[in-house]
Amino acid sequence: MSSQSLIIFDTTLRDGEQSPGASMTRDEKVRIAKVLERLRVNVIEAGFPVASPGDFESVRAVADEIKDSVVCGLARALDKDIDAAHQALKGANAFRIHTFLATSPIHMRTKLRMTPDQVVEHAVRAVKRARQYTSDVEFSPEDAGRSEVDFLCRVIEAVIDAGARTVNIPDTVGYNVPEQFGSLIRQLRERVPNIDKAVISVHCHNDLGLAVANSLSAVMNGARQVECTINGLGERAGNASLEEVVMAVRTRRDVFTCDTRIDTTQIVAASRLVSSITGFAVQPNKAIVGANAFAHESGIHQDGVLKGRETYEIMRAEDVGWTANRMVLGKHSGRNAFRSRMKELGVEFSSDELLNEAFARFKDLADKKHEIYDDDLQALVSEANFEAENEVIQLISMKVHSETGKTPLAHIRLRKEGKELAADAEGGGPVDAAFKAIESLVQSGSQLLLYSVNAITSGTDAQGEVTVRLDQGGRIVNGQGADTDIIVASAKAYINALNKLMSPVARAHPQHGNV
Ligand code: KIV
Ligand code: ZN
Repeated sequence: MSSQSLIIFDTTLRDGEQSPGASMTRDEKVRIAKVLERLRVNVIEAGFPVASPGDFESVRAVADEIKDSVVCGLARALDKDIDAAHQALKGANAFRIHTFLATSPIHMRTKLRMTPDQVVEHAVRAVKRARQYTSDVEFSPEDAGRSEVDFLCRVIEAVIDAGARTVNIPDTVGYNVPEQFGSLIRQLRERVPNIDKAVISVHCHNDLGLAVANSLSAVMNGARQVECTINGLGERAGNASLEEVVMAVRTRRDVFTCDTRIDTTQIVAASRLVSSITGFAVQPNKAIVGANAFAHESGIHQDGVLKGRETYEIMRAEDVGWTANRMVLGKHSGRNAFRSRMKELGVEFSSDELLNEAFARFKDLADKKHEIYDDDLQALVSEANFEAENEVIQLISMKVHSETGKTPLAHIRLRKEGKELAADAEGGGPVDAAFKAIESLVQSGSQLLLYSVNAITSGTDAQGEVTVRLDQGGRIVNGQGADTDIIVASAKAYINALNKLMSPVARAHPQHGNV
């Protein structure tokens, strides 16, 4: 990697997954990883293998599948974490172990209950252990943004001596401002004697809305890796958004002395896939990937763009993939056309049975909607995948009655653990009635935190994609459903969330508790 290359380290599957409700199944992670590979991300952080058997399997599946990106696993500075990361990653073409330990006074005192000397000793031991498995070892002093610079220099020098080849500086709580964060990176470059043996990376959280600005300020001061996520997903307010970092560096080549290897035409597809799998909608005015990011509403702007697009546009919509969502298939398309387009989208069916099932769904959809776009296909697979893996509850049929002046009524038939059940319920609206009927059968006791509907494509025959967020005693899950009938999509989303509540829970969080 030349000094002019900026390494893009994507952590959508690890830090992104730490957003409440964003947890992903193994197959969903593999689908996102394949899109990240097509995007030409350098490093994919696939998860935290020691967290649970499910997390371990997900990292292993990504490691087995990905060929062109380095696959990374997170590990606390503990032997069992590092060993688990190695076990999960060892099948990869190229892998990295990312180990971390907090270095700020408040984390060392309150969370770790360790002295600074003990922290240095543990960090060095962890890096040496990881080096037994690979030369590609990354170390992060967690909460570096609130650590004392002298101590940070000491830790970084020690872990580089121990063999770390990337030192990642996290602003874990999103506390820094660009000038200060850039200056921290400059000081590390000037004061750590062996810094030339490692790549400086940054990992900024967005609590003050400054994650991208802080990352870019770090790049201007010599950082050569940025950790980021698609759509800025991540713990609390999220991480630096990959698309914003990449497009800032690409668009302002006059300011930045480095560039990434990202294929920017894949950005919108990646954004849509992550949004549809996690159920985290992208706000319309979000830079690069928001629906309005390239829309010109005011007459003056439209006139200007028609006369010469550079009057108001600094990037071309097609360069980030806005025109790539082509109409691909229709009612007369056959199984082979369906299978090969799915393959291009990174979805391969492990058996003829799964292919046939997905193809039958596609035919159903094509009967209702003439033009099928890539996003329709992605939604179709999201449903099929979850059903194949984990379904305890299945919707058999539903009927809703809605008439002006009358109370809406829903009749639901579903299958729960093989038994057929039916219920009627009234509600404030047809969706409310359907949810009440379902809850009366399932008795989950969960609270509805969020309900949102998005049109997947344009036109009145578009599929509605519904996200439902449920809270069951503090456990938060998102469910998705898509259908040309939004009441049916809502019922599917609700049932999808209930199915997730019924799958196993025990899972460690990498940053909570002691090492
Ligand atoms: O925000 C953070 O500090 C992290 C570390 C584990 C790198 O996510
Ligand atoms: Zn983080």
